[in-house]
Amino acid sequence: MKRDSNFIGKSQLVTQLRELALQVADTEITVLIIGETGAGKEVLARFIHANSRRADKSFIPVNCGAIPSGILESELFGHEKGAFTGAFQSRKGYFESADRGTIFLDEIGEMPLETQVKFLRVLETGEFQRVGSSDSVYADTRIIAATNKNMFQAVADGNFREDLYYRLRSVELQIPPLRERGPDILLLAEHFVHEFERKHGVIFEGFTHEAGELMLRYPWPGNIRELRNLVESLLILEKGKRITPEILEKHLIQRSRHKSLVHEPAKQDNQELNIIYRSLIQLRQDINDVRQLLERLIEERQERPLLLPDNTARIQSSASNPVTEERASGTSGAVNSLDDLEKKTIAETLAVCEGNKRKTAGLLGITERTLYRKIKAYGL
Ligand SMILES: Nc1ncnc2c1ncn2[C@@H]1O[C@H](COP(=O)(O)OP(=O)(O)O)[C@@H](O)[C@H]1O
Ligand SMILES: [Mg+2]
Repeated sequence: MKRDSNFIGKSQLVTQLRELALQVADTEITVLIIGETGAGKEVLARFIHANSRRADKSFIPVNCGAIPSGILESELFGHEKGAFTGAFQSRKGYFESADRGTIFLDEIGEMPLETQVKFLRVLETGEFQRVGSSDSVYADTRIIAATNKNMFQAVADGNFREDLYYRLRSVELQIPPLRERGPDILLLAEHFVHEFERKHGVIFEGFTHEAGELMLRYPWPGNIRELRNLVESLLILEKGKRITPEILEKHLIQRSRHKSLVHEPAKQDNQELNIIYRSLIQLRQDINDVRQLLERLIEERQERPLLLPDNTARIQSSASNPVTEERASGTSGAVNSLDDLEKKTIAETLAVCEGNKRKTAGLLGITERTLYRKIKAYGL
């Protein structure tokens, strides 16, 4: 059996994980890998593949979260010529391309529900249909899936099929976050130092003892990916220096600053959400105002079947909108048909919204286009 040496780690957690991975590697069993981003899920999947009898066939990684849902299905299962606009010829999907090899479905928690149905069938029968075809295709593909999500939660929220989850987790491998791997942190750092010394043709002067201790205490939110990137920057930017805790801190702080910069757009998104949220509250308040106004009008109408001019005058005086004033002066104010009632309601709402057509249309539950049409028709 070929041993892939890239799955580094001597800590007890990793040793146990490696043993478990080797036990399942040579079976056909579906594996679900769970772990934080950057903790090495793909590395573990490749390790399993490399230690299986499929090792000399393809390993195809697919990021289910990165592919738009409409496209994911044809990417996975393939499609026939003419199945959709732009399908000029039929194409194999990843499942067929990975025949006798392994497909790695990363971020499986992001798989759209419609695709999950089809995927469950593949897991159960090994069969599927290309998009645009009813013929069944069979592929002998080993499936390894991974997620950094709490799948229980995804199932509870209705975003992931429960039957698929139970089917997938026949073997669940948990990758520990880097902060729980103790001495592996230094072992991995050393591994990356060698990798980047070779790549960049530089010699690394090493870490001081205190810097090593700081690395052991640091929580590594980005896990091994973060460590690898850190080592590469240290090698290039601190060339010829022995790395002290001060140098290390400077880089770790820079990285977290950089991270907060990366997150800035999300903040803007939040601000935008706040504005939308506030507008909704405002809109609800406006709807209540209009409802009260309408209730009052209806009450008045019940008292007097026809609206009298003095009533119109009241509306007119409360309206700062010339359009409404014009309307008010142009009508008798009497409501004697459904059209009149509609005209009046529109005029009233326009007045409440101070002539803002979008708000008016929103409150009346009609499109802006319809509103414009009615304004024109009623000569408002
Ligand atoms: N055990 C390991 N040994 C060596 N390198 C690793 C190990 N685990 C992860 N890495 C490296 O860390 C980075 C992130 O790994 P990856 O498998 O892509 O993480 P994930 O899929 O969990 O986000 C990659 O550059 C990978 O090569
Ligand atoms: Mg990954």
